[in-house]
Amino acid sequence: MAVFLTTNILLFRSLRFASPIPSILTNSPSKVSLNRRRFVSASMASDNESPAKNPGLRSDPPDEETKGYFMQQTMYRIKDPKVSLQFYSDVLGMSLLKRLDFPDMKFSLYFMGYEDTSSAPKDPVERTEWTFGRKATVELTHNWGTENDSKFEPYHNGNSDPRGFGHIGITVDDTYKACKRFESLNVPFVKKPDEGKMKGIAFIKDPDGYWIEIFDTKNITNVAQAAGPKPE
Ligand SMILES: *[C@@H]1O[C@H](CO)[C@@H](O)[C@H](O)[C@H]1NC(C)=O
Ligand SMILES: *[C@@H]1O[C@H](CO)[C@@H](O)[C@H](O)[C@H]1NC(C)=O
Repeated sequence: MAVFLTTNILLFRSLRFASPIPSILTNSPSKVSLNRRRFVSASMASDNESPAKNPGLRSDPPDEETKGYFMQQTMYRIKDPKVSLQFYSDVLGMSLLKRLDFPDMKFSLYFMGYEDTSSAPKDPVERTEWTFGRKATVELTHNWGTENDSKFEPYHNGNSDPRGFGHIGITVDDTYKACKRFESLNVPFVKKPDEGKMKGIAFIKDPDGYWIEIFDTKNITNVAQAAGPKPE
């Protein structure tokens, strides 16, 4: 449990500071529906995403120059590609979109994502273009030799001091079903879906200890109910 109190995850933090703490964790249907009504009316009334409520947020439409930009990659370093490729392909169901080796600089990049690679171009250059046009990939970076280095210090996952990076997140069809499967595959958990206060979301760890949030689009709305309006 201590881990949840020290975590830097926004949702967790908002729960800690939310007042009063919502009762989504109790089994009382009346409290749940009361809470749901409060959440719905609060979110409709407050327009929580408006520039007025979010200092720094641009009020004009995005700059024309940014048209066509999209979020393509998150890069992190891995110790051993053999172990990580097995995890990201077997456990998470991703495919290897592109591998790039840089012998002079002694590192390799593995772009993993949820794409049908049977439709990917065969030509290597076209495949690079194709890969960098896919959304939401992870770029696993392997600096050669770390996999055999007995003095290798594990990479920092950002969730202990000094914190920073938190996690990536995977939408699954059903969080509980997915977590049963992860359990059967002996995947380490930071948090199982029914642990802690935020029922219905989970965190697992990849082979390097990076956190991966697991959620589905149904249960996440229950978790989001904990996010009440910010106290004025
Ligand atoms: C690491 O060790 C494996 C076998 O244990 C070997 O196949 C591989 O070439 C080694 N890699 C490096 C960079 O030395
Ligand atoms: C998660 O979603 C399922 C299916 O909609 C529902 O039966 C279950 O009560 C939900 N659990 C939580 C903790 O929200």
